[in-house]
Amino acid sequence: MRRARILVVDDQLPNRELLRRVLQLEGYEISEATNGREALESVRAALPDLILLDALMPELDGFGVVSALKRDPATRLVPIVMVTTLETLANKLRAVDLGVDDFLNKPVNLTELTTRVRSLLALKRFTDELEHAARVLESLASVVERRDGYTGLHCQRVGAYARLVGSALGLDEETLDVVRLGGVLHDLGKVAMPDEVLRKPGRLTDAERALIETHAPIGADLCLPMRTMERSVPILRHHHERLDGTGYPGKLRGEQISLEVRVVTVVDIYDALSTRRPYREPTPPETSMRILREEAERGWWDERVVECLADMISGGQIASVAETVEASAALRAVAPPDPKAAG
Ligand SMILES: [Fe+2]
Repeated sequence: MRRARILVVDDQLPNRELLRRVLQLEGYEISEATNGREALESVRAALPDLILLDALMPELDGFGVVSALKRDPATRLVPIVMVTTLETLANKLRAVDLGVDDFLNKPVNLTELTTRVRSLLALKRFTDELEHAARVLESLASVVERRDGYTGLHCQRVGAYARLVGSALGLDEETLDVVRLGGVLHDLGKVAMPDEVLRKPGRLTDAERALIETHAPIGADLCLPMRTMERSVPILRHHHERLDGTGYPGKLRGEQISLEVRVVTVVDIYDALSTRRPYREPTPPETSMRILREEAERGWWDERVVECLADMISGGQIASVAETVEASAALRAVAPPDPKAAG
């Protein structure tokens, strides 16, 4: 197994040396930074598994580092232990508010240090595994989508658009993550659909339509055992419901359909219309929006969601999110293998 990497951040050389010596004896790989700015550079260059962070430092203090790392989705899961002489409750509360995972008081008790480090690293390994499982499902969703004649980016765009529209509608950060994941995975259940039905040109028979409709509950059931997916599962199950009760699989109506589900449903239809398919050209945004507005008037979709999406299209945010999705997919395609995955 790969050795865990710990970043020690302190402006005092003797403090860094002590921590380095003790932790190296425990078998960890240590890197060092002498202030907050250097710490951020080091994290960007190579993601550590844990950070031991001094509070008072020149350039950028420990609070600034915590705030920057915990706001960034790429670094927020790295555990941070603040090593400090600041014993006032106000300072500790400020650090907790920013997202610090644990504290150690200076002078550091070495047994306490190694015990805390060991338990935080065990927790980090567990989080990494969960993250890895979620990423496997996301990749599977892209593969499934390609069978359906898309390019593999539809589900990523649905996730990103859903996050954007959800944010404009005031959903909190945690719910936005749920909505994004639900958007990415919404059609996962198509993995169980036979090609001849999934790719059939022209009209489906009643039996084929009934079969296709099972993709929603199948996708939800696939994710059901994962506790981390708990809140995204209803999105997978209900993304084809309509507010007037004529959708599937639950024939849910009005308030029975959560805002999270409504958002994914609308952006899914918008992106499906706007995407080039083997059998048709993309629909221009204004035509897609006309269709969505007509269907909202008919009682199918939430008008507030449709109008919010319209605002995001005219404001250029949808186009810029689509560009970001494409750019990050291109980056992933040429990225060298993750050295962490090798261990
Ligand atoms: Fe679907």
